[in-house]
Amino acid sequence: MISLNINGKARSVDAEPDTPLLWVLRDTLGMTGTKFGCGAALCGACTVHVEGKPIRSCSTPVSLVVGKKITTIEAVSATPAGQKVQAAWAALDVPQCGYCQSGQIMSAAALLAEKPNPTDADIDDAMAGNICRCGTYPRIRAAIHAAAGRKGE
Ligand code: FES
Ligand code: FES
Repeated sequence: MISLNINGKARSVDAEPDTPLLWVLRDTLGMTGTKFGCGAALCGACTVHVEGKPIRSCSTPVSLVVGKKITTIEAVSATPAGQKVQAAWAALDVPQCGYCQSGQIMSAAALLAEKPNPTDADIDDAMAGNICRCGTYPRIRAAIHAAAGRKGE
C-alpha cells in the first residue's frame, strides 16, 4: 500500500510505485476533476499541486509524492489564491469546452500564490505549459489579472 496526503486527507492506495499520480487520482480514487490530455507532460490538463507547486500528474510516479502535500482541483478553492482564481474564472466566463480548465486553474493558482501581482510576462511563463485547444488564452490572462485585483491589459 502507498500512503498519500491528498487535499488534507490521508489516503492509502494499492498501486505500483511507478504508476502515474494521475492514474491513482482518477482510476483508483475516482477524483476525475484532474484531466488526462496527452499523458506526456505536454498539455498541462493533468496539473495538480505538490507542496504548492504545479506538476504534471501524468508524468509523476506516485512513489515520488509519498509524504508530500498534494492538492487537486477538487480542493484548490480552500487556498486563498485558488479561491480568487476560481471566482475570476466564473466572473469572466473563461472556459469554452472546459477540458483544459482544471489544469489552467491549478497553474494560475500556483502562480498567484507565489506572485500576487504577476505581469503579462509572468503569466506567459507560468501558463506556457497549459494548452487550450479552444484558444481561451485572452480570457485566462484577463482572469488572472482580475484575480490579482487588477484589470486585464
Ligand atoms: S495529460 Fe499531463 S501534461 Fe498532458
Ligand atoms: S476550454 Fe476547451 S481546451 Fe481549453
